[in-house]
Amino acid sequence: MDKIWAKVQIFAINILAIVWRPGDESDDWCSNERSTINQLLHRALLLARYSSPMAAACFHGHLSCASSPASSNLGLVLSRKYKPWPASTFHLIVGQELVTRWGFQIKSSNGYPPNVVSSQKEEQYTEHFKVEQELESTVSITVVGASGDLAKKKIFPALFALFYEDCIPKHFTIFGYARTRLTDEEMRNMISKTLACRIDKRANCSDKMEQFLQRCFYHSGEYGLEENFSELDRKLKEQEGSMQCLAQIVGRLANRLFYLSIPPNIFVDVVRCASRSASSPTGWTRVIVEKPFGRDSQSSAELTQSLKQYLTEDQIFRIDHYLGKELVENLSVLRFSNLVFEPLWSRQFIRNVQLIFSEDFGTEGRGGYFDNYGIIRDIMQNHLLQILALFAMETPVSLAAEDIRNEKVKVLRSMRVLQLDDVVVGQYKGHTKGGRSYPAYVDDPTVPKGSLTPTFAAAALFIDNARWDGVPFLMKAGKALHTGRAEIRVQFRHVPGNLYKRNFGSDLDKATNELVIRVQPDEAIYLKINNKVPGLNMRLDRSNLNLLYAARYPIEIPDAYERLLMDAIEGERRLFIRSDELDAAWAIFTPVLKELEEKRIAPELYPYGSRGPVGAYYLAAKHNVRWGDLSSDNNS
Ligand SMILES: *[C@@H]1O[C@H](CO)[C@@H](O)[C@H](O)[C@H]1NC(C)=O
Ligand SMILES: *[C@@H]1O[C@H](CO)[C@@H](O)[C@H](O)[C@H]1NC(C)=O
Ligand SMILES: *[C@@H]1O[C@H](CO)[C@@H](O)[C@H](O)[C@H]1NC(C)=O
Repeated sequence: MDKIWAKVQIFAINILAIVWRPGDESDDWCSNERSTINQLLHRALLLARYSSPMAAACFHGHLSCASSPASSNLGLVLSRKYKPWPASTFHLIVGQELVTRWGFQIKSSNGYPPNVVSSQKEEQYTEHFKVEQELESTVSITVVGASGDLAKKKIFPALFALFYEDCIPKHFTIFGYARTRLTDEEMRNMISKTLACRIDKRANCSDKMEQFLQRCFYHSGEYGLEENFSELDRKLKEQEGSMQCLAQIVGRLANRLFYLSIPPNIFVDVVRCASRSASSPTGWTRVIVEKPFGRDSQSSAELTQSLKQYLTEDQIFRIDHYLGKELVENLSVLRFSNLVFEPLWSRQFIRNVQLIFSEDFGTEGRGGYFDNYGIIRDIMQNHLLQILALFAMETPVSLAAEDIRNEKVKVLRSMRVLQLDDVVVGQYKGHTKGGRSYPAYVDDPTVPKGSLTPTFAAAALFIDNARWDGVPFLMKAGKALHTGRAEIRVQFRHVPGNLYKRNFGSDLDKATNELVIRVQPDEAIYLKINNKVPGLNMRLDRSNLNLLYAARYPIEIPDAYERLLMDAIEGERRLFIRSDELDAAWAIFTPVLKELEEKRIAPELYPYGSRGPVGAYYLAAKHNVRWGDLSSDNNS
């Protein structure tokens, strides 16, 4: 049903009636349409907007056909028990089908004009309603854990960027929630430091920033206390204000999004409080959670179970910010909209696939959280595995979220459970280079002495389905390595009966094509091809067919969080992880994680800033793979 709303000015009276006039309708239209009207009156509300635009109230009224059959008036009668109505503007919303045909008027119950003591002519108190505009929904985004690092560095800036790009609903408010006691003003100061303007649109940025900050509020409370969330609820309602009331009538809505930027051990507490005390009575309530989703199959299942006590699956948005990266998203575009790739996308042409993630810094004093999880849980089991699934899935029925996720789950469920001898773990040790010394992982004061937590891991995975049978998918992730990058490398098979075999000498590997999808830094896609060096002799060379995003698309590539937040607001679930997906992902890694811990397998030490432990080479060699990122001609 399309909805309308109307606005009318009324004055101080005790009772007022809103009267619909049927226009040309027959005299008994009121009785004829009584049942429709009754349905309508059920939901009819009037809304008063007082002098403070924030304070608004809803009043239920009832609609009745006037008693005199001769009168074809229908009235919505509202009463307020004690106080007279203050002078205010009322918004009236009713179902459009029923109302558009009629003009409607406002009358006081006693027949006198609403605002006068003495009677005046009818025209003076009759005001015709006009349809004003389509009603919009509101969205309130509560960042739980607002004083944390992630919130400050990523979430607020991403929200601002969305606002800046007009990608956020018009009526939005942002709440920070944390234990620290801060005023709204203090929070605004805190986040204003991290907001940045898009380089390509600097103009009027500070105005925009100011507008944005005016929509930011703060509420302090405990994470596990429902009272504190009820207070939040009250503040949210205040902000949602009038829109809240409208929403109740028209079925459009005050929506609420909670972003849990907090340690996983308090997820459930917050979700309980938020869902019981601060969920939206009218619109949707969604919760974004970030990894880690448990430590293994069992704890992940428990977490899901506990969350589902309070939320349904479609309210939970499990975020993997890697999936929000522009290029990962474009992986599907690349595959499914280019004829030249999809036919090659199988064991027939692809020799191996490498998923590489490296950071060129260590834990730097923040290893406390990391030590509990290790690199396999932190990066491999989620980011890299998600990318792998997206890479290897069959063509989905459509681009709808459920279709894509169904395909991803199929891939994950076809994967072999990872074996210990297909895993290499490492940990970085101290190193001195160029007069500077770099600390070992265990030197980090937040890391327990003698920790065996891996900061590096390499693994060989296999997908036992028709498309990928026998193709090794190698993963490598590590901290404190020589570069920071994330990329997917696809090495194709040798050209059968290569005419130019002689030109490559014995190293045929050098002659194979390689497709590289670099996620960071500098998003790029390039294909290594063989090429003849110009000149009289036959010299072959490798060169890159290169799509460097920054060069081709000179706009700023949005941060992953922007996309994910926008998707969560719009309810687009493609980039979020479903619980069966999570189960399947854990099933692959849990046994090996258990074994590593039970056998207390010592990680191989590698120097800070190096290329990682030697074991990774042997692992690759065992599967007849050469790491693409370490080969000598890897100049980009
Ligand atoms: C900046 O603001 C001024 C005044 O508010 C306006 O006239 C101008 O068009 C704005 N520029 C941009 C790029 O939005
Ligand atoms: C949480 O609620 C309790 C009880 O209403 C209140 O005493 C306390 O101050 C609140 N906590 C914070 C941090 O506001
Ligand atoms: C990547 O995806 C974005 C939308 O997510 C699209 O605008 C862009 O054109 C895509 N790029 C390529 C190379 O497919």
